[in-house]
Amino acid sequence: MQVIILKNAEEIGDYVAGVILAGVDDGSLKVLGVATGSSPLPVYEALERRRTPELSSISAFALDEYVGLPYSHAESYHAVIDREVTKRLRLDPARVHVPDGASDDLPQACLDYEEAIRQAGGVDLQILGIGGSGHIGFNEPTSSFASRTRIKTLTPETRADNARFFDTPDQVPLHCMTQGLGTILAARRVVLVAQGRQKAAAVAAAVEGPLTAMCPGSALQLHPDATIVVDEQAAADL
Ligand code: GLP
Repeated sequence: MQVIILKNAEEIGDYVAGVILAGVDDGSLKVLGVATGSSPLPVYEALERRRTPELSSISAFALDEYVGLPYSHAESYHAVIDREVTKRLRLDPARVHVPDGASDDLPQACLDYEEAIRQAGGVDLQILGIGGSGHIGFNEPTSSFASRTRIKTLTPETRADNARFFDTPDQVPLHCMTQGLGTILAARRVVLVAQGRQKAAAVAAAVEGPLTAMCPGSALQLHPDATIVVDEQAAADL
């Protein structure tokens, strides 16, 4: 696991955008795994600034989606990915995939999502944020390291964290569909970004703590090509 400590969110965005554009340029990156949350936004902003025509031809797979939130809702991850990734990077919407949390057949939609990733040739580089509880995607503590895309129940802590995006806390959905830790570990390369003191404990647990289902981010210690890009505050407990 490689840890890179940079000054601020802008430097993090520029660094990770550079890694992505280098992969697009040399042809090794055709499928990008994208994440929601505020942490990866500087990466998307830097990619928007430094965009090349080749970038528009990649495919993208998002990590997760709420269950039971219409895609027309501004905080559904379909809407967030469309706004922050598809439009900024000028990707082909037909090649941008988000788990189908509004499906009538959720177990089948989970299998279909895994199959879509497989058919695309797998994820070449997965961008990740990390939640305060150490979750990646929506893999809450106790998630199996071998898990694949499935339905999960959000913890009260995650619902409280995400309440800021909704009018009232009880509007935050109870369930989500998320790529599993096994799905994330199957990406050829993973890059986790985190900024701010409030992420320091989760970053330290993921990077230096024991391998444990109680810190899903610690699963990344098993990945042969994982990079953690943090600012000094998020690195404070390392
Ligand atoms: C949500 C997302 C995660 C993200 C986390 C942290 O739970 N499902 O993918 O990493 O929020 O978000 P932020 O980067 O805003 O702190």
